[in-house]
Formats: sequence, C-alpha cells, structure tokens
Amino acid sequence: MKRITKAIIPAAGLGTRMLPISAAVCKEMLPIVDIPAICHLVEEAAACGITDILIITNRGKEIMENFFDLSPEYEAALAAKAKYDEIDRLREIANTANVYFLRQKETLGLGHAVGRARSFIGDDPFIVMYGDDVIFSDRPVCGQMMDVYEKYGRPVVAVKPVSPEELSKYSSLKVEPIEGEDRVTYCTDMIEKPKAGEEFSNLSILGRVLLTPDIFDIIDELDPGAGGEYQLTDAIKQIARESGIYALEFEGDRYDLGSKIGFLKANIVKGLEHPETGGELKAFIKKIAEEI
Ligand code: UTP
Repeated sequence: MKRITKAIIPAAGLGTRMLPISAAVCKEMLPIVDIPAICHLVEEAAACGITDILIITNRGKEIMENFFDLSPEYEAALAAKAKYDEIDRLREIANTANVYFLRQKETLGLGHAVGRARSFIGDDPFIVMYGDDVIFSDRPVCGQMMDVYEKYGRPVVAVKPVSPEELSKYSSLKVEPIEGEDRVTYCTDMIEKPKAGEEFSNLSILGRVLLTPDIFDIIDELDPGAGGEYQLTDAIKQIARESGIYALEFEGDRYDLGSKIGFLKANIVKGLEHPETGGELKAFIKKIAEEI
C-alpha cells in the first residue's frame, strides 16, 4: 500500500461568515494567538509524514504564500537582538513541507476546488484538510486517519456527532458498526446539508477526508449540489454507495475558523496554553466570568 505523502488544503472560499475582516485578510490567515490557522494545518500534515501540500487559493490570498517563505528582513532584525530562537521558529515554518499554491479561478465549491488538484495528486492517495477547520489533538487527526487507511485500504472520512442545527449545515452519514471497532464505522451513504427528516445519523464529516485518486473522475462529472456548489460530499457519496468507505470518529477538538465563535474559542484555548499569555488570560477570564 502506498504511503500518504500529499495533502490538499482548499482555502479559496470567500469566507462570508467572517466579513468584514475576510474582505481584507483571508480567514485561513487569521491568527490563533500568533500563528495563522493554515500554519496549524500544514504543521499537522507534516507531523504525519506528509511532505507535499497543495493550497488552493484565489485572488487576494497572496499573503499565505509570503507566510511560508523565508523572512530575511525579520531575521536580520532578530539577529541584531540575538533572538535566535525566534529566527529558528520562522525558518522552521518556512521549511515545514513543500508548500505549493494553485488558483481556483472561480469559487464553485469545495468539490470543484479539490478537482483542481488532479495533476498534483497523480496516482497517489491523499488527504484533504478543509482550510478553516483547525483540530487540536494529542495525536494529529491526519495520522489517526492514516492508521484506518492502512488497516482497511479504503477512503476514510473524519467524523463527529453534531447537533441537529450543525447537521443541517454540514453532512449526515449512513454508517454500520464494525465488530471490534470503537471509533471506526462502515459508511455506505451520506447527504450534504440535509433538510429535516433527510438525516441518516448525527455523524457529520468535519474537516478532514482521506481519498484515493478515483475521486477525480467523479468530481469531473458532478452536478451542482446544495447551495448550487460542486460539493465534495456528493463525490465521496458515490464511492461510499458503490464500494463503501470508513468513518473515523477522531480524537480531538475541532474549531471552525470560518465562524466568529470558532475563531474566538480557538484563541481562548491556545491563549491559555501559551507561556506568554496563559497566566494573565486565565486571571482575566476568571474576572470577567464573575461579571457576566
Ligand atoms: P466553507 O463553505 O466553510 O467556506 O468551505 P466558505 O465558502 O469560504 O464559507 P462562507 O460560508 O462564505 O463563510 C470549507 C473550505 O473549503 C474552501 C474554503 O476556503 C474553506 O476552507 N473552499 C470553499 C474552497 O477552497 N473553494 C470553494 O469554492 C469553496
């Protein structure tokens, strides 16, 4: 079985839920304390042995490309102050993986964005990391999915149970239990943005899918789905219906950086962990908690 060394990060959405800021700074570059969201994704992938990452972008998102480059001006300024640890951190980010960029020229949906990556992927299995979904976990979710792929040799989707309101915004999966498995189920169908009564279960795909290259022929034939967009879920659904895939209830906490509340929560969680901000932030939260 081929090892997984490639990932795609679709980051070409308009981010309308994060307006007005997203009109000037794309949501994937919004900070979680001092690191942009997309950097967490690239570091998660690299930690699992992924060496080549294609970020799908669009107009106005050049700042992502600059971020993964070296920063000679900052390095010179930091060297003058003997701040060598900070220089090392900047270099570490620039060298995390081979990061490639490709434009999705029209914002036609997640399925369409992934379809642009066919020649980058070639014949290899790969992981799609949704550009605004950051997951904090002891073991990176990409690695958790790779384990399931190695065991079953079929596509794997990362899932969690979600509330009825969330289900109608995401997807709902039809799954069967597998003997001896706690967190892995066999998935034979799914629906994107189900209306009330159309749900299969409360399990929804959140943020990561591991796919095989046969998905590209299906994407090429897709019709527009929910919201008039080419939905990746509709393509994965065809594979699930024809030959089954696996759903992994991953370990970890996922934050939707495409939403205001997800952005705020992720910053509180990481702000509390950060050595520079943790103590003061904790005292501040306790103080305002008494007042609200
Ligand atoms: P979302 O639906 O969360 O992103 O797509 P969006 O369209 O930017 O969100 P809103 O509703 O306008 O706020 C999930 C991921 O897929 C990417 C987005 O950038 C996001 O990371 N995406 C979405 C694309 O790359 N291309 C698309 O055409 C749509």
